[in-house]
Amino acid sequence: MASYHVTMVSWKQKKGGGGLAIIVSFVSQKGGVYKSTLARLLAREFAAQEWNVKIADLDISQGTCFQWRARRLGNRIEPDIPVEQFGSVDKALKIADQYDILIFDGAPHSSSATRAIAQASGLTVIPTGLAVDDLQPAVTLAHDLAKNGVARAKIVFALCKVGDSPAEIEDARAYLQEAGYDVLPGTLPEKVGYRRASDEGKALTETRFASLNQRAEEVAQGMVDRISQLSSAQDRSKTDMNKRSVA
Ligand SMILES: Nc1ncnc2c1ncn2[C@@H]1O[C@H](COP(=O)(O)OP(=O)(O)OP(=O)(O)O)[C@@H](O)[C@H]1O
Ligand SMILES: [Mg+2]
Repeated sequence: MASYHVTMVSWKQKKGGGGLAIIVSFVSQKGGVYKSTLARLLAREFAAQEWNVKIADLDISQGTCFQWRARRLGNRIEPDIPVEQFGSVDKALKIADQYDILIFDGAPHSSSATRAIAQASGLTVIPTGLAVDDLQPAVTLAHDLAKNGVARAKIVFALCKVGDSPAEIEDARAYLQEAGYDVLPGTLPEKVGYRRASDEGKALTETRFASLNQRAEEVAQGMVDRISQLSSAQDRSKTDMNKRSVA
């Protein structure tokens, strides 16, 4: 926990409150792989560090994050996590500069919107289950994004709905790495405790069980580290460009 608090705060100070929002998206071809849940997890961790966060809920028909926020407000859970529904990626991007971080919760099965979200994002997270039935379409989606201008380094997989077989988890990691992609550390199992927390408007790090919270923190930490690395790399390349233009 402590380490990512430090990382997140110092990095925001560097950003100085101005400039463009960091954009992170959660997308998948398959439905129900925990996109909305991961979007809420990440949003909660940044909001808890007083970042100005917004979830852009692009799944208009379900409004999963939007409804979750209503439950969160109803149960007076702090911090509040603003969620807004947007009919298009472009509309959401217009308000991006008002936030430190904008988190896209994508709809499943919508390849053109998914491409547009990923192209605008500093990091795209693809959650997937462990079966080849799940991994195959997830990799197909990643390849499609890579072919359409999204750098592979900006794509990362999250292993979700995992069982208790370490061998199955390792096999899934190897499958994705062999396909040319990185996988977040940690995994998310399907647990009643997570579902109940979500029903109450809580994020995965806010359950009643320390062990579940810790497990979710590991995944959140992985996302934060990844975002932090990508932001530093971007800063470095900006500095290099400035140096080049001065010389
Ligand atoms: N770790 C978990 N354990 C148990 N249930 C979970 C967990 N994470 C999420 N859920 C539940 O699983 C369902 C699917 O999760 P979620 O809505 O995040 O998936 P999604 O990928 O956004 O789905 P969709 O493709 O429909 O947008 C929801 O009912 C959610 O509350
Ligand atoms: Mg969803």
